[in-house]
Amino acid sequence: MIKNVSVIGAGTMGNGIAHVFAQHGHAVTLIDISTEQLEKAMATIKKNLGRQFEKGTIGEVQIQETLDNISTETDLAKGVSSAHWSWKRLPKMRQSN
Ligand SMILES: NC(=O)c1ccc[n+]([C@@H]2O[C@H](COP(=O)([O-])OP(=O)(O)OC[C@H]3O[C@@H](n4cnc5c(N)ncnc54)[C@H](O)[C@@H]3O)[C@@H](O)[C@H]2O)c1
Repeated sequence: MIKNVSVIGAGTMGNGIAHVFAQHGHAVTLIDISTEQLEKAMATIKKNLGRQFEKGTIGEVQIQETLDNISTETDLAKGVSSAHWSWKRLPKMRQSN
């Protein structure tokens, strides 16, 4: 059974994927090379949870449970060490030739 999920890249795609998995009971490690990006991603997730609360689709307990399910990491090896499944959401690399 997939319980622990690692999401690599905390940008536009990564924060949304982490949010959905965490809201549905998975322990999510959100990984990025940038601490600032991880802070921005968590702020975005909190803002989006607040929107769901305002719409009445989730309660305060679910907000807290979702946030408690997410941890952040800048070290890739540590971040995926306990993952049952990982999802890479990184920028595409440019060809140099
Ligand atoms: N944004 C979309 O609507 C969308 C839709 C479909 C597919 N995609 C694809 O998904 C991927 C990610 O898109 P995005 O919009 O989330 O990009 P983004 O630029 O918002 O986020 C990418 C994140 O990856 C991080 N990163 C870069 N190299 C890393 C590394 N080695 N280890 C860990 N983190 C690293 C960056 O710091 C950044 O926070 C791209 O390949 C894009 O083409 C995006």
